[in-house]
Amino acid sequence: MLSGKTILIGITGGIAAYKICELIRKFKKSGANVKVVCTPNALNFVTKLTLQNLSQNEVYVEEFDVKSWKPEHISLADEADIMLIAPATANTISKIAQGIADNLLTSIACAFRKKMIIAPAMNCNMWNNAAVQKNLSILKSRGIEILEPDSGFLACGYLGKGRLCRLDKIFDAVVEALKCSDKLKGKKVVITSGGTIEDIDPVRYISNYSSGKMGFALANNAADMGAEVVLITTKDFEAPYKIVKVKSALDMQSALDNEFDTSDIIIMAAAVADYRVKEMCAQKIKKGESDVLTLELVKNPDILAGLCERRAHNSLDKPLIVGFCAETENLLQNAKEKINKKGCDFLVANDISRSDIGFSSDDNEVTILDYSGAIIKLDKAPKRVIARKILELISK
Ligand SMILES: Cc1cc2nc3c(=O)[nH]c(=O)nc-3n(C[C@H](O)[C@H](O)[C@H](O)COP(=O)(O)O)c2cc1C
Repeated sequence: MLSGKTILIGITGGIAAYKICELIRKFKKSGANVKVVCTPNALNFVTKLTLQNLSQNEVYVEEFDVKSWKPEHISLADEADIMLIAPATANTISKIAQGIADNLLTSIACAFRKKMIIAPAMNCNMWNNAAVQKNLSILKSRGIEILEPDSGFLACGYLGKGRLCRLDKIFDAVVEALKCSDKLKGKKVVITSGGTIEDIDPVRYISNYSSGKMGFALANNAADMGAEVVLITTKDFEAPYKIVKVKSALDMQSALDNEFDTSDIIIMAAAVADYRVKEMCAQKIKKGESDVLTLELVKNPDILAGLCERRAHNSLDKPLIVGFCAETENLLQNAKEKINKKGCDFLVANDISRSDIGFSSDDNEVTILDYSGAIIKLDKAPKRVIARKILELISK
């Protein structure tokens, strides 16, 4: 199942380190090439000899034990298809989040550019520590998958959240990530995300509640599936692919124009303002005598329809174009009208009247319409999972 794949497993100094021996066996049985890197503290819990025997490879610990012109922290990062850090201590999680590279494992993590999965394990009070939680959210915002620990009796005697999650869950997450790792290889995927910002004056603007999370999840998944990704977004995201930060609908349109000719797939997950202020005031608008202030708005270009027109006008068979529509009522009916009007290949419709899905939420539930009239409903799931399903569908 995993033959031809190299899994780099990072083990840190937590009591759950012994469990990784079993995981290495499972990956080996599935045909993977397993390479192990340990922090020096991990060797207080497992021996190099055990890991070496199970992985049938050298086990790497010392950063300055350099054997070739290319140091290990770069060659190991380059060779692996995926990096799994399990168990990940509070210490190592925090160091990676802050870009600290003070041992071989953290230096590899700093240089690693493909899919990374982290399975934390620690005492429940360490897990709840504000700094650790902040560092975990930093890692998540960079597209790193965190497999949250389970609750139960902990080795330290506490009852709470902190146990390394089940090994089959870690195994499945790695297999799933590797399975899709080349489905979009050789394809350039351009994704938009976030709500556009239309200035009124130097201190005020019109925008919407879009968090950009759906587009970011799509971008991360497309990168995991081997695509060259460009994320055009109004939000501050960090990722190992190209990010173009934009503000207004017009900025977003011109960024898309620049990428159009070379792209294979364009996914418009951004919430683009329909209108902008006709003329932005150069100075802050002062509170006047009148109780009413009138802003004159003009229509923004319909970016999605414009992309479809450009493709049709040039008789091109690419890029494949996917639109998103956010509706508060008559979801399906509005979505059907929209896909016909715009001429895109897929339209992903989501109901933003519900607070548990859509804007700002970590979850989504969408209905996908395709050019042939087929309707596919994806049940409520984390945006990461929904993103993967959308990409799998369109990559067919
Ligand atoms: C017996 C023992 C068990 C430990 N278990 C954990 C653990 O499960 N999770 C954790 O974050 N730290 C644990 N620690 C603390 C880490 O070992 C310590 O923070 C160390 O600096 C981690 O180094 P590393 O991240 O470089 O491996 C444990 C320490 C001891 C002595």
